[in-house]
Order: sequence, then C-alpha cells, then structure tokens
Amino acid sequence: MHPMLNIAIRAARKGGNLIAKNYETPDAIEASQKGSNDFVTNVDRDAERLIIDVIRKAYPQHTIIGEECGELAGEDQDIQWVIDPLDGTTNFIKRLPHFAVSIAVRVKGRTEVAVVYDPMRNELFSAARGQGAQLNGYRLRGGNARDLDGTVLATGFPFKQKQHSPTYFRMMEVLFAQCADFRRTGSAALDLAYVAAGRVDGFFEIGLKPWDFAGGELLVREAGGMVTDFIGGHNYMATGNIVAGNPRVVKSLLSTIREELSDALKR
Ligand code: IPD
Ligand code: CA
Ligand code: CA
Repeated sequence: MHPMLNIAIRAARKGGNLIAKNYETPDAIEASQKGSNDFVTNVDRDAERLIIDVIRKAYPQHTIIGEECGELAGEDQDIQWVIDPLDGTTNFIKRLPHFAVSIAVRVKGRTEVAVVYDPMRNELFSAARGQGAQLNGYRLRGGNARDLDGTVLATGFPFKQKQHSPTYFRMMEVLFAQCADFRRTGSAALDLAYVAAGRVDGFFEIGLKPWDFAGGELLVREAGGMVTDFIGGHNYMATGNIVAGNPRVVKSLLSTIREELSDALKR
C-alpha cells in the first residue's frame, strides 16, 4: 500500500473514532457559528488536532491545510494534506448519524491518495491514483447509467450562499424532471464516496471548499467516474462548483446546469 495512504487511513480512523465517541455524549458538544449557517464544534477541532498529530509524526515536513486550522506551511510545500475533520457538522450537531472524515494528499497539485471515513458505519473509502478505489478493502465501481432516466442524484443546497438559490432551484427543477429522485445527505465527502460506490448516480453542488471534495474527487475518478466544474472544465478547486458521476451522467447534468448558469457562476 502507498505509505501515505497508510498514514491517511490511520489518521482518519483516529479522528473518526473520536467523533463517534463524542456522538454518544451530546452534552459535551459545544457548537458555535463561524459564518452564515456555518457551524463548528469542539469535536471538529479536537478531531483535526488528532489527525494532524498522526500526519506530523510520519511527515513533519509536509504542508497541512485543515478546515479549522487553515494552512500549516511545512518545509515541503509541494506535498499538501487537505483535511476536513468532520464533513457533515450540521448532521453531527443534530444527532443525525451521517458524517465523515476526509483526507486527501496532493503532490504538486495532483491528488495521490484519498480517504473518506464514516465512523458510524465503519465504512472506509480509500483510493490511490492509478490503483482504483475501495470500500473496506473491496474494489469500487461507480454506476453505469446511460442518462438521467431512473437515476438518484445527490446534491447540497447553497445554504451558506443563498444568493445562488434561484439559479440552483432552476437547475433542480429541470433535473428533477429528468431523474428518478434526489438525496440531500448533508455530507459532500460522503456524497462523492457514494457516487464512487454507485449508491447514487451523480452529484452536484455550488461553492464547496477544497477540503469538502479533495478526497471524494479521487474516489470518484478511481472508480471510473469523472468530476468537473459547472462548465465541464477543471477549475473546481477555485470555484468549488462540482459535478460528479460516470461520464454519461456528468454530460447530462452539465447540459442542464450550463443552460441555467447565472453570470455569477459562469467561471
Ligand atoms: C458541508 C457538508 C455539506 C455541504 C456543505 C459543506 P461541513 O461541510 O459537506 O453537505 O452541503 O457545503 O460545507 O461544514 O459539514 O464540513
Ligand atoms: Ca465540509
Ligand atoms: Ca468540516
């Protein structure tokens, strides 16, 4: 196994186990708001600290970008660990058991290894570039839908940027007429892992941050799918606008999304 994947798995399990333990003691969870509808808890921060300790012990020179700690520049700027210690914080606060740890390692801008770990179900999604994606050690293959007919699509509402809701719901209206149904699970990292596993056929969301999708993106690609921005390009690290699925599903999603794009999202 790729040595960095080994460390990423160890770190994700450690962080995830801490989250699962705290889930049992809701009185000890302190939540605060860091932005519009954007919450953080002591558990997000504690899990991130644990994850960083594991990485630092193995790779003291690497750079770390964590959602809660920001960038911790290392001697080696070419290798970046991109961490979301708890993707699905709102679910966690509401005691809705659907959230994950996401860790991706990017070398010179290219993601080499990825882990998304769901501690409540003990499901560990992992991938190394060129070596496929796995769930608890079993090879993953994404769905094989030919178009949107009969598909179940995952998405996230633009709850932090409600100025995008008219555009977003126009896209939804058109897509809903074409697919079978939608899921809004509350964890973008798991949405992407579920695309990789074929549990949902496609995914799109506006304005994500790199830590939300850096891990899931490699899972999708290594399971035979593709990930693009809203114009079919690869600028999603900057825009955070993401479309994922098998190539035919992405093509169908893009044809609607592009049609409905507002000027603010035409990047
Ligand atoms: C959020 C989740 C959610 C998505 C949001 C993300 P967080 O991450 O992934 O599904 O809709 O855009 O910010 O804040 O729980 O780590
Ligand atoms: Ca997140
Ligand atoms: Ca988070």
